[in-house]
Amino acid sequence: MVKILPISEQSIETAAAALRGGALVAFPTETVYGLGADATNDRAVAGIFAAKGRPKFNPLIVHFPDRETAAVFVDFTETAEKLASRFWPGALSLVLPRKPGCGLSLLVSAGLDTAAVRVPAHEDARRLLRAAGVPVAAPSANRSGRLSPTTAQHVADDLGDRVAVILDGGPCRIGLESTVVDATGDRPAILRQGGLPQEAIEAALGKPVLVAGADDATPRSPGMLTAHYAPSRPLRLDAAAAGPGEALLGFGPGSAGATRNLSPAGDLVEAAANLFSYLHELDRPEFSAIAVAPIPEEGLGRAINDRLRRAAAGR
Ligand code: TXA
Ligand code: MG
Repeated sequence: MVKILPISEQSIETAAAALRGGALVAFPTETVYGLGADATNDRAVAGIFAAKGRPKFNPLIVHFPDRETAAVFVDFTETAEKLASRFWPGALSLVLPRKPGCGLSLLVSAGLDTAAVRVPAHEDARRLLRAAGVPVAAPSANRSGRLSPTTAQHVADDLGDRVAVILDGGPCRIGLESTVVDATGDRPAILRQGGLPQEAIEAALGKPVLVAGADDATPRSPGMLTAHYAPSRPLRLDAAAAGPGEALLGFGPGSAGATRNLSPAGDLVEAAANLFSYLHELDRPEFSAIAVAPIPEEGLGRAINDRLRRAAAGR
């Protein structure tokens, strides 16, 4: 049975230790309950997608106890400085450039060179983040396609023992996910409307912001709004073997001689954890293309195949 623990000094320590150990922890924020994992641990992050049964890898929001800690992992632009000093802690997530070698899993960024970061306005959430001492990736703590949870009981009903610990901090104050703003350049764009209203953001910046979907015709870096990663080498999917000059990205025990094997044992969670780092690794000019072994269309395999198809189509 999943453990629902009321907030206390001890339960926060238990949850923090579980996070450091690579386990999944559900915790309250002012927006919705988050399904947290150590954002520097590929396998732990892959566990989030497995637990949610997500059909594809959307990039995830990474949570920090304060802005100073976030600034260790991402670069703050002038726009971001303005928005963070006005609205953090709060229901605002900022998409910013990852610092090179920052250590965040590529899976939290779905292979992009940006990461969404947030400091929640929830005392106990920040206590947990401080105690964990690692950045915490956390989407809403529900299975894919279900409603976002605003109580610990919602989480337990939906995820059950897919999560190691649920911290119970009572109902969420906002009950709606954070507003996601792309603040990488000087033309900020709202990528997801949420708990912080557009008007408040525009008032703070003293100018209108772009809104993804509504303003899609506005020139922005291609691929940004759809947020997918595509290697510069061609990808050849469902490949039985490598052709001349190709790298082979294998899967399972049948992929002997692969340049890289996502999971020699055929474990989809391990494969998901390795996907983006191996694609990056094989995306080198010495290879004419990356041939990818077939991945079973089940469990996390659906998400892996979704990303591979986008990567193959996106170049
Ligand atoms: O309120 C919230 O934001 C909750 C609580 C738990 O903090 N978290 C949440 O996380 O909703 P998540 O991971 O489900 O939200 C991710 C959103 C998606 O819309 C995703 O596309 C966008 O943020 N996103 C994350 N990283 C991105 C990136 N690098 N580039 C573009 N969009 C990104
Ligand atoms: Mg959600």
